[in-house]
Amino acid sequence: MYLTKEEEEILAGGKGPGRQRAMQLLVALGQIYDADRLVPITSAHLSGVSYKTIGDGGLDFLLEMAQDSQVTVNTTLNPAGMDMERWQEMGVSPTFAEKQKRIIDAYARLKVNTNCTCTPYITGNTPKEGETVAWAESSALSYVNSVLNARTNREGGPGALAAAIIGKTPRYGLHLEENRRPTVIIEAEVDDEITDYSLLGHAVGIKVGGAIPYFKGIRPDVNGLKTMAAAMAAAGSVAKFHVEGVTPGWGLQELKGLEKVAIGREEVRKAKDSLTTGKDPDLIALGCPHLSQIEMKMLASLLDGKRRANDAPEVWFCTSRTVKTWCPKETAILEKFGKVVCDTCMIVAPIEGNHRCTATNSAKACNYLPGLCSQKVVCDSNAALLEMVL
Ligand code: F3S
Repeated sequence: MYLTKEEEEILAGGKGPGRQRAMQLLVALGQIYDADRLVPITSAHLSGVSYKTIGDGGLDFLLEMAQDSQVTVNTTLNPAGMDMERWQEMGVSPTFAEKQKRIIDAYARLKVNTNCTCTPYITGNTPKEGETVAWAESSALSYVNSVLNARTNREGGPGALAAAIIGKTPRYGLHLEENRRPTVIIEAEVDDEITDYSLLGHAVGIKVGGAIPYFKGIRPDVNGLKTMAAAMAAAGSVAKFHVEGVTPGWGLQELKGLEKVAIGREEVRKAKDSLTTGKDPDLIALGCPHLSQIEMKMLASLLDGKRRANDAPEVWFCTSRTVKTWCPKETAILEKFGKVVCDTCMIVAPIEGNHRCTATNSAKACNYLPGLCSQKVVCDSNAALLEMVL
């Protein structure tokens, strides 16, 4: 991979050990993926925030990086392992909380925006069409590639942090136009319901793996697109997709000769059945990916004027702190039925000590809950899940 004189100097350690380590990581990635050079980025988004997922090894790495380096572009953070203000109410132990705070402090020293969310694209870190960025978090990067039509590879946490520090990323993969074209046509038929888009994403992810699907027959809004992106990335490794009539540039795509796959209501029903492994949930968790303002309003309208049943399970509405601040009226309604939880989610929080069966409307969460949180799972629509609370 070609390096400029300045990049060579960073690699040789001339700008300090933190930047040297970041450059070493980018060069290693570039060599693995056969990149020709580094290209400047305008933003980054980092995963690897919850103490549950990165542990002491991850904390030590961040402390080391924070000693003498800082990010040089707008950089945001994925959810942490707890609500940074209400962790006690979530049943998080003081030991976990102390480690989690040290992780967030290290990111703050690196000058990363520590408002932890997996939907930073609705709260200010919103890449423009055509921009080159380095994003981790599979749901967010797929949204950025597909709905915003900016360009990112499927970064891991350390690669995205290295890119954020250097302000550049290796040029390969989805940074190249020829790798962004559809490779399979999905003829989809589903009801216009948020959970159905999530289950459609799950079915497609399993079917196509890492392909680039071109959807016909659906018109999801931004909330449908974000949950579909999350489910496809979790069940497969889809990092970009097109939706006819919806995503930018859909009309410019060459479809001739592509394989066609039909995925309809029957596949969606089967996906829901296969993801449901339990009953009688003791936690209902909504907001994977984090709830948008529109979703907060929709949930509040479904619950307004109703009463929580005495024996209802615990409920979490997971969102970003920014969206919570934007929605004071909705938050007040939702808080009568559960907790509006910020900075975290049902997957990266240590729920396994406190809950055994979690219900959610997100196929991505259903996919991860058994393995990462030792949970039995109930997969159902928003309306059906809220019915369990009344
Ligand atoms: Fe976000 Fe957690 Fe889901 S990070 S996409 S809410 S698993």
